[in-house]
Amino acid sequence: MDSGTQMTLRRLRQSSLIRELVQEKILSSTQFVQPLFVVEGLKTPEPIPGLTGVSRESTYSLLTTIESDISCGVTKFIFFGIPEKKNLSEINCDFTTNQISEIRKQFGKDIFLAVDTCFCSNTVHGHCGLLDDSNEQISNIKTVAELARVSLSYAQAGADCIAPSDMMDGRIREIRSTLNSNNLENVLIMSYSAKFHSSFYGPFRLAADSSPKSDWLKDRATYQIDPSRFRDALLCSVRDSDEGADILMVKPGLSYLDVLYRLSSEIQKPWAVYQVSGEYASIELMAKNGLIDAPRAHLEVWTSFLRAGASIIISYGARFAKDWIKN
Ligand code: PBG
Repeated sequence: MDSGTQMTLRRLRQSSLIRELVQEKILSSTQFVQPLFVVEGLKTPEPIPGLTGVSRESTYSLLTTIESDISCGVTKFIFFGIPEKKNLSEINCDFTTNQISEIRKQFGKDIFLAVDTCFCSNTVHGHCGLLDDSNEQISNIKTVAELARVSLSYAQAGADCIAPSDMMDGRIREIRSTLNSNNLENVLIMSYSAKFHSSFYGPFRLAADSSPKSDWLKDRATYQIDPSRFRDALLCSVRDSDEGADILMVKPGLSYLDVLYRLSSEIQKPWAVYQVSGEYASIELMAKNGLIDAPRAHLEVWTSFLRAGASIIISYGARFAKDWIKN
């Protein structure tokens, strides 16, 4: 190593003890949220292509999976219910509502349960909302009313947090006021406030049976944010914060670190980041081809989320976080 007057930045890198001392961000498994997919009518769990360690759960396997997650140090979950029957004009949310009650009955307050509130797994066309009178566009007003009704049902069943991922305008205000007028002031809202129109949701859509299936509207570009538009993400996040969201989110993570950094400097609320299915799978698929070490790569990406300003990390690898952080 150089001596004398030259500045040696390598001095602080020379041993693991010194490196520990100067670490600026430290991952903790307590910050992680594990997604859970539960499929009505499924007999046995089905592994999801690309999402190592994650399955579409049956109603039977769900409870054992949560138990095993708790024993791995996971205490926070986000729930995705996938009903057997799809609807067109009114959402039937009984399956997810019943599953929430069941989870609450089994695990009480040992776990924090957020519920993704979106209709793409519930509708016949696979879009995140209900149709307007033209039958070719998503109706903001109908969708928001239905979201509030469904959110109330989830909260009454015991959800700790409602997490709307549909990207309709004004949903946070409507959900908040519905919860409040039903004595559910303590239920949190985590808004997917900066959710982009991304190609990285592929594995999720297979798992959640939620791809858009219509000729009249082929993708989600009329409601999700264009990848080029930071300003849209800012406007949505300020709006959702003002309407009462407790936690805000950037999604996906890795390609939107600049957005996370700027938004979390701007809005002083807790920020979550979603390492989405395609991001998670790309690391797993590289690792399967012997190109990288998956745990190290995930830890590196997760650390970049902390650096950019997140305090909550939603990842399919949440159940491995404690183990990987330790080693
Ligand atoms: C529902 C929803 C999606 C994701 C979370 N909630 C998919 C989408 O918007 O198409 C994606 C999560 C992931 O890819 O891991 N709208």
